[in-house]
Amino acid sequence: MSEKLLYALTRPLLFSLNAEAAHNLTLPALRKAHALGLTARLRKAAPDPRVVMGLTFPNPVGLAAGLDKDGAYIDALAALGFGSIEVGTVTPRAQPGNPKPRIFRLPAKRAIINRMGFNNGGVDAFVANVQSSKFYQNKEGILGLNIGKNAATPIENAVDDYLHCLEKVYPYASYVTVNISSPNTANLRQLQGASELDALLATLKQAQLRLSDQHKRYVPLALKIAPDLDAEQIKNIADTLLRHKIDGVIATNTTLNHRTVDRVRNGNEQGGVSGEPVFELSNIVIRALKREMGDALPIIGVGGIMNGDDARVKMKLGASLVQLYTGLIYAGPGLVRECAQAIGGQDGQA
Ligand code: FNR
Repeated sequence: MSEKLLYALTRPLLFSLNAEAAHNLTLPALRKAHALGLTARLRKAAPDPRVVMGLTFPNPVGLAAGLDKDGAYIDALAALGFGSIEVGTVTPRAQPGNPKPRIFRLPAKRAIINRMGFNNGGVDAFVANVQSSKFYQNKEGILGLNIGKNAATPIENAVDDYLHCLEKVYPYASYVTVNISSPNTANLRQLQGASELDALLATLKQAQLRLSDQHKRYVPLALKIAPDLDAEQIKNIADTLLRHKIDGVIATNTTLNHRTVDRVRNGNEQGGVSGEPVFELSNIVIRALKREMGDALPIIGVGGIMNGDDARVKMKLGASLVQLYTGLIYAGPGLVRECAQAIGGQDGQA
């Protein structure tokens, strides 16, 4: 059975459930399918290696953070053919996140609104999950570990949470993502401000160099930013990234701009919008970052990739790699190969 047919058959069932229930069914089912060897039949993207942040990505299409917050499904997700898997966001201590319901589908706009609020089992459980994955053990590919802060930590002490997580995840990561752009943790986006960002990145850069000495391996740091930034804020972020020699930038997270969704069902739910409505907004950020930084720092483009053309557009604007999440929910796992083919202009391999 092709993955298209399988997805076409299961999508109506999944879409009849509330979004979080569907999510909670899909990932274990995918893991079971993987354990039974069924994912081996998926037609994967042709190899198209890209060297970014000093790492060789087998192909330029990655899974964005947030689908696998605890790193519990790495092997099954890797079987979908991604060039990289980013898991998290993880926080120092376990926390429940916001009350349910907290994730909503907007099929009319091919979008999702979520206000999950970094629900996760804490960094120690996260590291244990990563360590037990075959993907990590056999060094099968690129693994991004995405870190954040606990909701209960005052924003003035946010640096401590990022530092704690960085130290814990460093030995197991291909790269580490510093997520300061979720709209669902109070005040988190303040860390994108000039003085806050300067202080955060200075501390994390110092820690990175110390950890690199200690573990005899340099693990790149990427900063993940919001689409809801004006030109001056983007310029400041770009300057700060370059000044602290951060290794990459992931643009973007979900948007708080509900303008294009406020008339459709679920459109007035609080939270970050992903999928089609964030495509242009994140492209504006990618374009501005490219203008500010040229080729000095790689951009990982994410936001609203729903088909191969969308992925190609992000690369054209200056992204070195792309990631996706919401597109996977609407288009199914075949989207990974479609995007890789569109970028590389190559045929998929059996
Ligand atoms: C996310 N995203 C996200 N990002 C992140 O850095 N940490 C996280 O924990 C989460 N959690 C999360 C949950 C859900 C339900 C969604 C839909 C998204 C953001 C995600 O990685 C991505 O940046 C945006 O969704 C935009 O890309 P797409 O979804 O339009 O391809």
